[in-house]
Amino acid sequence: MAALASASAAVSEVLAASSSSASKLYYTRYEHRLEQQYLPSIRALITKDLSEPYSIYVYRYFLYQWSQLCFMALDQETSSLIGVIICKLETHASISPPTSRGYIAMLAVSAAHRGHGVATSLARMAIDAMAERGADEVVLETEETNLPAIRLYERLGFFRSKKLHRYYLNGNSAYRLVLLLRSVGPDSALDLSLDDEERQLIA
Ligand SMILES: CC(C)(COP(=O)(O)OP(=O)(O)OC[C@H]1O[C@@H](n2cnc3c(N)ncnc32)[C@H](O)[C@@H]1OP(=O)(O)O)[C@@H](O)C(=O)NCCC(=O)NCCS
Repeated sequence: MAALASASAAVSEVLAASSSSASKLYYTRYEHRLEQQYLPSIRALITKDLSEPYSIYVYRYFLYQWSQLCFMALDQETSSLIGVIICKLETHASISPPTSRGYIAMLAVSAAHRGHGVATSLARMAIDAMAERGADEVVLETEETNLPAIRLYERLGFFRSKKLHRYYLNGNSAYRLVLLLRSVGPDSALDLSLDDEERQLIA
């Protein structure tokens, strides 16, 4: 996995530079002071491809508490947003043994920059940051029809732990994908929360 460098730069902490895509870009960790500059474009980028638009409070929920787990890919010349990943990390004490679970909430790359490894780099940075903070596992949900995302995560070592029927408001089903960073107990994400059908079955 990519190691994080920590060099200060004018805009923010520059993590890596890349010239692999059409325009040169660099990766930077999100910081609160960048909210005014980048939150509108983060929302615009994510909303574009999302079946369920999130309110500003959803973004702030993640960014206020886990800004260190949010990374952006920026255009080197214009500093405009090319890609972003937003995550959280929580310890689930009710699970046996208590498990530190990272969660990838949102990931998007602008259409013009896809297929050059930008999302792969962002995901690796986020996973590294979660691992450094003691994550046992990383989980996420993605629509079952989102093959680019599923391929990306499976290449990174995630596996499908569960199908969540009609998980999204649009009626689409999802897969829960899990990446194990260390061996965890029987109650970990492999056995995560019940989906709707299961809930009805035991209701
Ligand atoms: C899913 C998504 C984030 C992928 O972004 P991306 O930057 O294109 O992803 P990557 O470039 O890392 O990987 C995509 C492909 O490029 C290839 N690739 C990776 N690095 C590359 C490089 N340096 N040069 C050329 N191709 C490369 C990968 O092998 C991959 O190939 P595949 O299509 O066979 O899997 C993007 O399509 C997106 O924003 N979709 C809409 C939002 C979304 O669905 N988010 C995920 C929700 S969970």
